Amino acid sequence: TPAADLERVTGLLRDVPDFPSPGIRFWDLSALLADGGGLAATTRLLASAADDADVVVGIEARGFLLGAAVAHALGVGVVAVRKQGKLPMVAATRSYDLEYGSATLELPAEVLRPGARALLVDDVLATGGTAAAAAELVEGAGAQVAAVAVVLELPALHGRERLDGHPVHALLAR
Ligand code: PRP
Repeated sequence: TPAADLERVTGLLRDVPDFPSPGIRFWDLSALLADGGGLAATTRLLASAADDADVVVGIEARGFLLGAAVAHALGVGVVAVRKQGKLPMVAATRSYDLEYGSATLELPAEVLRPGARALLVDDVLATGGTAAAAAELVEGAGAQVAAVAVVLELPALHGRERLDGHPVHALLAR
């Protein structure tokens, strides 16, 4: 059941103080991803955010692991939105501020079909800069954002407010 899945996810999440810099609390999914039942529960819960999606967009880096699992569960493909400089052919590039530092994301060329309904997947929604940049890349390619699905939302950082009203499906909030 979804309640049992959620309990399993909650029990396997770890938080680490002062990583990667002082004052930042890092949410570590390593134990959750390493547990077969935990990964299955996470995948089911994230996939339920948009069961009509026709593609999943996974955001570097933990969104790749989760995104591929969710795509497989939904029977659709996965598109990897990557940090700058990793893709040989780029459709579009977008920079954003992060809780710590800044970064640039790129969408691979010629893989996202215009009109597709994309489910964006990542591990954490913090300030929302990452997910907002990914959503803008998806929309810039003429696709739609069906929903943004994350394991964990940090509501104190108001990431949801940067997402233009796109549905946000967070398994947990801390
Ligand atoms: C983390 C996390 C999200 C993002 C959330 O990734 O995995 O992608 O930050 O933060 P935001 O909502 O404030 O934008 P990180 O930038 O550390 O990159 P990595 O996954 O490549 O390590």
